[in-house]
Amino acid sequence: MNERKIAYILLPAFLGIFLLGGAFTVAPKQADPGPDPITRKVDSVLALMTLEEKIGQMTLYTTDWGSTGPVIRPGYADDIRSGHCGALFNSHTAAFTRGLQRIAVEESRLKIPLLFGFDVVHGYKTMFPIPLGEAASWDMEACEKSAEVAAAEAASAGLNWTFAPMVDLTRDPRWGRVMEGAGEDPYLGSRIARAKVIGFQGTSFDKGDRVLACVKHFAGYGAPIGGRDYNTVDMSEREFREVYLPPYKAGVEAGAWTVMAAFNDLDGVPSTGNSWLMKDILRGEWNFPGFVVTDYTGINEMVSHGIVANQKEAGELAVLAGVDMDMQSAAYQDHLKQSVEEGKVPEARIDEAVRAILRTKFLLGLFDDPYKFCNEEREQQVLLSAENQAVARDVARKSIVLLRNEGVLPLAKEIKTLAVIGPLADDQNNLIGAWSGAGEGRHCVSLLSGIRNKLGKGVNIIYAKGCEIEGEDQSGFAAALAAAQKADAVVLAIGEHKDMSGEATSRATIRIPGQQEELARQLMATGKPVAVVLMNGRPLVMPWLAENAPALLECWWLGTQAGNAIADVLFGDYNPSGKLPISFPRLEGQIPIFYSHKNTGRPFDLNSKWTSKYVDIPNSPQFPFGYGLSYTSFRYGKPQVDKTVFRRGQDVTLTVTVENTGRRAGEEVVQFYLRDLVGSVTRPVQELKGFQKIMLKPGERREIQFTLTENDLAFYTRTMQWAAETGSFDLMVGGSSDDVQSVRVTMIE
Ligand code: BGC
Repeated sequence: MNERKIAYILLPAFLGIFLLGGAFTVAPKQADPGPDPITRKVDSVLALMTLEEKIGQMTLYTTDWGSTGPVIRPGYADDIRSGHCGALFNSHTAAFTRGLQRIAVEESRLKIPLLFGFDVVHGYKTMFPIPLGEAASWDMEACEKSAEVAAAEAASAGLNWTFAPMVDLTRDPRWGRVMEGAGEDPYLGSRIARAKVIGFQGTSFDKGDRVLACVKHFAGYGAPIGGRDYNTVDMSEREFREVYLPPYKAGVEAGAWTVMAAFNDLDGVPSTGNSWLMKDILRGEWNFPGFVVTDYTGINEMVSHGIVANQKEAGELAVLAGVDMDMQSAAYQDHLKQSVEEGKVPEARIDEAVRAILRTKFLLGLFDDPYKFCNEEREQQVLLSAENQAVARDVARKSIVLLRNEGVLPLAKEIKTLAVIGPLADDQNNLIGAWSGAGEGRHCVSLLSGIRNKLGKGVNIIYAKGCEIEGEDQSGFAAALAAAQKADAVVLAIGEHKDMSGEATSRATIRIPGQQEELARQLMATGKPVAVVLMNGRPLVMPWLAENAPALLECWWLGTQAGNAIADVLFGDYNPSGKLPISFPRLEGQIPIFYSHKNTGRPFDLNSKWTSKYVDIPNSPQFPFGYGLSYTSFRYGKPQVDKTVFRRGQDVTLTVTVENTGRRAGEEVVQFYLRDLVGSVTRPVQELKGFQKIMLKPGERREIQFTLTENDLAFYTRTMQWAAETGSFDLMVGGSSDDVQSVRVTMIE
């Protein structure tokens, strides 16, 4: 019997109502307007379910395959069979998921298919740059495309749900999960959140090549005190709404079907039990139509938070707050039935949660074909395909940021001898980065291989490791220095081990570890041109290198095609175009540091003691937000506006001419910032309001326009209204947050 038919035969009550499952678009804006066909189907399933089976649909377990935390219930097969578990995560490959799905649709009473989730954060098998790196591309098409490819690979390997994008904004590079997000800015973060959701979900699940997105971690998880993962978050509601919430909202507005509750508490309430977040904001203000899942054991952790006394109370708090699915706590499975029977949780609330979950299963087309995402043939074709490698290489090179260049780069391909040095030069495992899905180091192109691929046999390449990433051992220095002496140029790859950024990997010192910087110093002392290639998951503190390296290239962890992409940039086949999505501090003591700060009553003045500053270092970062060099140069004309005084409701158009004044074609990210000079509450000195990435040929000049609307001027006023206030504004445009020209405009009533 065809497996596809089993669902029909085993679920006679649903016969004839499944077929519409795939025909729905992914992004309806509103919750149910009425009894549409899916609602009728959902209700017909719900009507058959016992309370226990309903709670089963609200339960998500990891399998014992590569879990990201403690495996609480290894007996998941029995849970599926008994209807106690409606979704699994960390289970992938078409064959493995098919086996589990078969248990659900053949051996459970109601045969409801399972969801399969996984952290497809920056790729499934083909790895793309870590999200922070990809954000440096400021290229929304690239961000969407990589998510599309990741979704296609994941969907071919049995998955139908990714726990991504992570849209937690952060201004603290000590936080290990900085690598997983889009950096420090709400506008850039929102644009990227949108691109990722659309890339993962597309407009339909019909073809089985897209997966559900999950906007996480709702909310404010990126602002833990001291940058320590899982730590308390506390801030004003104004800051929370203006700075931290926009990327989640953008993801929801882009149609994300699921949202993950964060681990942290906020103003004393853990997100997992926070009805203000889940009900008032997410559903009330944003009309989120999907379901909310906890993070890993998030419900149980509310006991440690000290907001409830035990697991049962934790489950009640979570479900009543609007959290629909329990990841791994087993709190719903173990206690929710009793809570309903005691009248502590209305069954109507359970029904509401189950409806949202069943609806997504219908939308995915799982009732129609539970094995839709387990297609071994497709899996073979799609994973690591040549086409996917081409996308990965393109996105990777767009993510590279040139931080310094004293005429060293690009290197000539005709070079005779090249020394390739450093603990990350011949590395594959670290380059795929943290949260690397099913990615494997062995598929990754190391920098050394990428350079060899580029240069062929004609160039003498001498490789020396020099030292390890960590540790005090300098015994490899001599060979590295000897290699440099023999070479015409040196490429030095240093940075972080991939386990130094990611979850639970906050660092108090964010230096380049071990002896790597010392190796760089000694190599530079040889007088040879040294291009330093950084591979890392966060902004690093490296004052000496930042001021002395002849060339410094921020290459993050670029994924499967890392080596080829870096070689493209090193040898000038791609002109670097990345711009930093986050400030790099001079020293850890500046953290949190971000471009969009307030002016204060005593703004920085080097010559005055009584101003807001450090006595030992400048206020400015080492490298600011929006910064990145190119092999060519761009000249900005004076920005012009179509009106300097305008009425509320009118748009203002700013025009600026950008010219490529160098000898290479290159891309520039033209950035548009705003400052509201006087407000009913103090406003940041700069806020990003738009950007355009443009390609200019040598000598080419283009007029770029930005339109400023009343909404761009709005903020949460003194009385917490989202509104624009009349007065003067500086509009700024330039190639970096610290390199702008401005023009003043005034809004009147
Ligand atoms: C992380 C989530 C992740 C989940 C499942 C948790 O530890 O915080 O981001 O989606 O594990 O792997």
